[in-house]
Amino acid sequence: MNLRAYRKEFPVLEYWVYLNAADQAPPGRYWIDAMRECLTLYEAGRVSDTAPYDPATHPFLTPVFFECIKRAARLLHAKEAEVTNIYRVMTHANLIINDLIKWERGDNVVFSDIDYPSIPYILLGLRRKGVELRRIKSVNSEVRLSDLERVVDDKTKLVVINRTTPWCGFTHDVKEVVRIAHEHGAYVLDDAFQAAGAIDIDIHRDGVDFLLTGSYKWLLGPEGAGVLYVREDLIEELEPSFRNYIWADVPTGIPFGRPDHDNIKHWDYPLVKNANRYDLGICVTPILFGWNATLEFLEQVGIENIEGRVRQLGNYCINRLYEIGVKVVTPEDPRKRHGLIVYTTGKYKLDLKSYERLNNTPPGEKPVKVSLRYVGGLGGIRVSCHFFNTEEEVDKLVEIQKNVLQEEGVNT
Ligand SMILES: Cc1ncc(COP(=O)(O)O)c(C=O)c1O
Repeated sequence: MNLRAYRKEFPVLEYWVYLNAADQAPPGRYWIDAMRECLTLYEAGRVSDTAPYDPATHPFLTPVFFECIKRAARLLHAKEAEVTNIYRVMTHANLIINDLIKWERGDNVVFSDIDYPSIPYILLGLRRKGVELRRIKSVNSEVRLSDLERVVDDKTKLVVINRTTPWCGFTHDVKEVVRIAHEHGAYVLDDAFQAAGAIDIDIHRDGVDFLLTGSYKWLLGPEGAGVLYVREDLIEELEPSFRNYIWADVPTGIPFGRPDHDNIKHWDYPLVKNANRYDLGICVTPILFGWNATLEFLEQVGIENIEGRVRQLGNYCINRLYEIGVKVVTPEDPRKRHGLIVYTTGKYKLDLKSYERLNNTPPGEKPVKVSLRYVGGLGGIRVSCHFFNTEEEVDKLVEIQKNVLQEEGVNT
């Protein structure tokens, strides 16, 4: 891997020790350039539908819409028909939970206390429909399969997971989660925002029903794009009540040019039988240009290479943190994590001080960009080790942290 060349794609690495992809990826030249190219094409009035990248008035009229789908499907080892473009995770989590799944009084939904709150917030609304919320409490930074087995029953309609949780990096054995849920006839919604782009996801091997991820964290893209995956055999039966006319399965294509165009007769067709039936019509063309360039960039680097490097740096980071005696909150078992590593000094005030010190280095030294995050009784300083990071960057973090501990008289 030509790390030096890849690092040049992220100009902010010159100014920051950037260990913060779990919050937001450093902007990549590849997507900034692609978005600029889109604007240049607009300016030049290039709106033909033959050239591969010309922007048009609707993103679905641009080949780039389909190219994003093709590449995202390849990334997840999915079929193109199972994937569509989204704007954010939350928009389509709402569609799945409030529209596609038909709830009955007495049903229940299972999730955990270390899930990102955007989906739990949607689930709270289900109480009005008489749906019971079953929240699993994490134990030792894990959502245990034994707890899932205990809580899921024949009234469970949905199991929600964060494939990797943002608060400690715990990463599920998704195949096992699916096995437990499917034994009881429940769907699995996999929020993979903290996993996609860091690890190689084989969606058919895992067997999840729905997967959502956004573009702007480990996938290293611009904000405002993402992926919805729906298992192929569910697509026909899961009809959205949100109807986007663009995806009416009109056999002769859009009839606008016909002199006899009739807005009922020529439109009275069901939605297409692929994941585009779930397109809410809120994608934006310049963003898709950037997103497509991002997916192309990831293909060049290779998701297996990325995963290898993310895991290697994650191990390195954990070992270095052990050396200075902080508590690593992330599970030690490498099968239960990747490069998202969380640690704590054991005291909130000292975590906060460390975080502030990392961000405010003396003049001439690069600040260390990390996050401070807590939920469900766990958390601390979150270090995102992505493939473009280096051992020296992790060393810098450890050095500053060690100094803070020494100043406080904590033995390291
Ligand atoms: C696991 C997870 N899901 C969802 C989100 C946010 O998604 P959205 O783009 O819908 O705000 C985050 C953001 O940190 C996240 O970590």
